[in-house]
Amino acid sequence: MRPRLLALVLTGPIILIAASRAQNLPSAENPVRISATEARRTVDLLHDVYVNSVVMTHSTYVKDAATPPAAMVARRLFEAVAAKGWTQTRWMNNRARALNPAHNPRDEFEKSAAEQLLKGSPRVEKLEGDRLRIALPVPLADRSCQTCHPKDAVGDPVGALVYTVALLKE
Ligand code: HEC
Repeated sequence: MRPRLLALVLTGPIILIAASRAQNLPSAENPVRISATEARRTVDLLHDVYVNSVVMTHSTYVKDAATPPAAMVARRLFEAVAAKGWTQTRWMNNRARALNPAHNPRDEFEKSAAEQLLKGSPRVEKLEGDRLRIALPVPLADRSCQTCHPKDAVGDPVGALVYTVALLKE
């Protein structure tokens, strides 16, 4: 057998197996599924990482209203993470006056979560079929945030992150 043909015969099945595995890789349509307990812990961890990252990126790089805001960089990060099939995350402004209008509360869960977070609730959750939705508050960190969010008071729980985690099917 000619060497090239031999190589094809030997590697062909490996390529086919790799291709079929690639099709099963997690994605937004085929998300990673975990238990409700794991989902809550994952969201607590993500919230800690995301909020700290936004505040640190902001204080390190954002010096005026012309600099790209930390929240926008974070939104791109949320999109990249969700595309890999991990937890979905989106910004929300609980008073429906988001700088990016896509971040105003948009369905029943988000509207009711926004109300409860503004009243001081530390966490709002809802089980919807095989997904768990969790809203956690993001208060305005300090006065430097008001350069671009002049209507919001420091410490007010006006912002939120809304997480959606795919649960194991029963
Ligand atoms: C340079 C201007 C600027 C500064 C400073 C800034 N933001 Fe923002 N922020 C924005 C913009 C613009 C958006 C919308 C980003 C997008 O399109 O995703 C936004 C989005 C948000 C959102 C989501 C709701 C919305 O309005 O779209 C929250 C919550 C938020 N910022 C909190 C903060 C916090 C907390 C700080 C201070 C640590 C801060 N921002 C500082 C400009 C800024």
